[in-house]
Amino acid sequence: MTVSDNTSQLEQRLIDHIGLHGPITFESFMDTVLYDKNYGYYPNRRRQRGSSPVGTDGDYFTSPSSHPAFGALLALQLDEMWRTMGSPGEFTVVEMGAGDGVLGSDISEYVERELPEFAQSISYVSTDLFPPTGTNDVAQVSALPVGVTGCVISNELLDAHPVNRFIVQSGEVREIFVGYRDGQFEEVIGEVSEPEIAARVKPFLGSLPESYRGEVNLRLGYWSDSVSATLKHGYVVTIDYGYDRPELYKPERMHGSLRCYYQHTLGQNPLIRMGRQDITAHVDFTAVDHTLLVNGFRRIGKLPQLNFLVNLGIDNFLNDISRQTSGVRGPGSESREDLVGIGSLIAPDGLGRFTVAVHARGAEDGREASPTLTGVVGGQPLTQGHSVPTLNSSSAVHARLLRSSMPFLQNRPQSNDLPTWEELFSDDP
Ligand SMILES: C[S@@+](CC[C@H](N)C(=O)[O-])C[C@H]1O[C@@H](n2cnc3c(N)ncnc32)[C@H](O)[C@@H]1O
Repeated sequence: MTVSDNTSQLEQRLIDHIGLHGPITFESFMDTVLYDKNYGYYPNRRRQRGSSPVGTDGDYFTSPSSHPAFGALLALQLDEMWRTMGSPGEFTVVEMGAGDGVLGSDISEYVERELPEFAQSISYVSTDLFPPTGTNDVAQVSALPVGVTGCVISNELLDAHPVNRFIVQSGEVREIFVGYRDGQFEEVIGEVSEPEIAARVKPFLGSLPESYRGEVNLRLGYWSDSVSATLKHGYVVTIDYGYDRPELYKPERMHGSLRCYYQHTLGQNPLIRMGRQDITAHVDFTAVDHTLLVNGFRRIGKLPQLNFLVNLGIDNFLNDISRQTSGVRGPGSESREDLVGIGSLIAPDGLGRFTVAVHARGAEDGREASPTLTGVVGGQPLTQGHSVPTLNSSSAVHARLLRSSMPFLQNRPQSNDLPTWEELFSDDP
């Protein structure tokens, strides 16, 4: 077959493959359209120098890209982890799925500026499946260290993992594959390709209505194994949107959680814009627990990002910026941009709704029964006595949310046609 004018090379490869082997699992489809090394979404975006899927010119925003305060608050939490572990001489932070490396840059800068003792011990390693070109700040996953003491951290890594899709038909769990017929990609329904897919859903089957759709991530075990190989002692901080399984497979969540992002527009059709749009699915945090538990990591906390950042003391940062803003007029002032950026991190219908899960292995020795981390349990905010980082003081590039027409903004007089955060994360398509 040859590539027609309207068919991309990526589509043609899929058409040829399906022509030869029949319909493919959605997991295989998603893997190809996101990660094919020649034509996939992430490699393509990263190959273009200066281009990123994240940020104002990309397809979506993330917490690190929104404001350096996110990295600063995590730096304070990491400092407390280091102290809790007895201030070891070497404390390695490994970030997986680091994308452009903004979080690592913000954390390192804040530690250098505000936490001089910790700065003597921390080393930060950013890794990604497809690091951006033109910088050495983010390493290939093959460079993941082994057996470190410290912390493994990820933000929106697991929601980018390819998933299998299922549908409930006549009380049975069946799988949704991707086929191609009469010049069009289409959904094809058949027997599950892996028994695990049905096994995950079966406990909830009695309450799920006919035609209920959802996703199963079978890859979390590989992720957990690589976390375990990387980290000998310490903490795992996993930040993403998602739920524990009873909430994820709730009857009301009729259409599953698969979402597509293209230039800040939310879509539900993964069979279009192949290689040009991002595809995500909510994370099954029960599976995160199970796969980490198998490797000896125990969950010591799970809470919304809003609560986690409030526990750490984000209000002090907001108050500091507010003081700087008072008396300044006009929406374009730098301080107001900082205020909007920091506020977006705890927006109750936006990033504040993300989940922060913290697991530990051999980190708190005798104290593992009662977790002590401030982000998890609250107490005296860690921001006390520390200054707030600003968009101008950070050397990494962040979104200027006040200037960009996007859905984080609380006051968006000219942007009524944009989706709200509620729409972006709603359970209904
Ligand atoms: C949604 S982006 C998040 C980027 C960044 N963490 C942020 O918050 O802005 C997901 C990132 O995970 C990377 N990724 C996906 N699967 C991966 C894997 N198995 N190992 C490492 N990185 C992976 C992608 O290349 C992409 O950069």
